Amino acid sequence: MTNQELIALAIKAKQNSYSPYSGYKVGAALLCKNGKVYLGTNVENCGYSPSNCAERSAIFSAISNGEREFEKLAIVGSSNDIAYPCGICRQVIVELLPNADIICAKDENTFKVCNIAELLPNAFTPADTDTVKPRQ
Ligand code: THU
Repeated sequence: MTNQELIALAIKAKQNSYSPYSGYKVGAALLCKNGKVYLGTNVENCGYSPSNCAERSAIFSAISNGEREFEKLAIVGSSNDIAYPCGICRQVIVELLPNADIICAKDENTFKVCNIAELLPNAFTPADTDTVKPRQ
């Protein structure tokens, strides 16, 4: 699947956005190594804190369905610019899809292919907690 095709799916997912508080719609499409695609959108809440980002909706849906191997993740927002993942989503990405291409897009013609190392340098990763695990 091309980057453009994955972005088109993220744009479709964006149509499902539940964002009455911010008015900012976001869509994400996550391509697994097995070819399956999981979509996500942002889901807001009147309590604000319970809101979820599009990227995490897509990633958690894929994980919930047993996926572990990921190829690339496309993200689009509803501003007139390229959409980049928020800090919390970057932290989730570095743990669950550290080697995937992160396609930050405005539309099918305007996008940047990034990797998580550049989006989240010097990240806190599972390796950092290895030394603090209790002995069995
Ligand atoms: N949002 C995302 O879905 N992904 C991001 O990476 C940035 C922010 C959502 C959360 C909230 O529903 C709205 O955009 C405004 O912050």
